[in-house]
Amino acid sequence: SRKVFFDVDPGCDDAVMLAMALGHDAVDVVGISTVCGNTTVDNTTRNAHGILELGGYDVPVARGCARPLVDDLDTAEWIHGENGIKGELPETDRETRDSHGADAIIEAAREHGDALTIAAVGPLPNLALALAKEPTLPDLVDEIYLMGGAAMTTGNVTPMAEANFHNDPAAASRVLQDAGPKMVGLDVTNRATVAPEFVASCREAGGVRATVAEWLDYRPDSGTYPTAEAPAIHDAAVVADIVDDAVLTFEEYYIAVDTSGGPSHGAVICDEHGVTDNDPNGRVAVDIDVARYRDILETGVRAYAAE
Ligand code: BDR
Ligand code: CA
Repeated sequence: SRKVFFDVDPGCDDAVMLAMALGHDAVDVVGISTVCGNTTVDNTTRNAHGILELGGYDVPVARGCARPLVDDLDTAEWIHGENGIKGELPETDRETRDSHGADAIIEAAREHGDALTIAAVGPLPNLALALAKEPTLPDLVDEIYLMGGAAMTTGNVTPMAEANFHNDPAAASRVLQDAGPKMVGLDVTNRATVAPEFVASCREAGGVRATVAEWLDYRPDSGTYPTAEAPAIHDAAVVADIVDDAVLTFEEYYIAVDTSGGPSHGAVICDEHGVTDNDPNGRVAVDIDVARYRDILETGVRAYAAE
């Protein structure tokens, strides 16, 4: 199985992703850092503990950044629910690690080396700080996956920018420059929906699966939001590809983030046609095998919620 360290802002789709990773035999979750994003870092940290408690897993959790590096935080409780998550999580008195989230990323990289994959699926201040403290981080580990950005499509927070990158464009810019990541953006994650029948079967099963059904079917409390028949579980696309690298197709491009403060603030600039002289600095997801993705998600979630 692949050792994976997760940097998360749960968040309903983060919660599904963690459940699926915890449950799936092919993934060994070695650590979790939390970050502000969908909600405050106090909430994302409590939610991470609650997700572990609900499934009965023991993984160390480190609290990370409380705000973006430069910009102000823009949370999304209106989509993900009060406290940033739908459904009831159990109370727990689990302890949070003393290490800051950024340090926990570095510690995991030093401990596991090239056996480790890092998956960052929230805003990126923890990873940006980790890269500033330990610039060799990308060389230490196997791969760094990001869920964020939108390379060749439009955004979900502004017409141009995706939420994770929009929340901390400075951090996202630094991570693209330094990390040589696999960037999994909205281009493909908007298609990472689950079958409505699977959501219904979880809801009918009750217990832990009924809570997972709440995460799977996250919808805005108010306002309008472009939803398919089932919401896209963006972050879960990353874990599916970690389990089976035939899930996503990547192409190498030069990618950067607009930090200029204009109407495209936080947008990805992807040199699709090679019009700059810049070498590719990342791999960009361009396609998803939805059937494989759903199969891995369902397998992982079933095991997480086995009662
Ligand atoms: C991303 O932003 C967050 O709202 C989700 O958890 C996901 O990581 C999608 O734009
Ligand atoms: Ca997320």
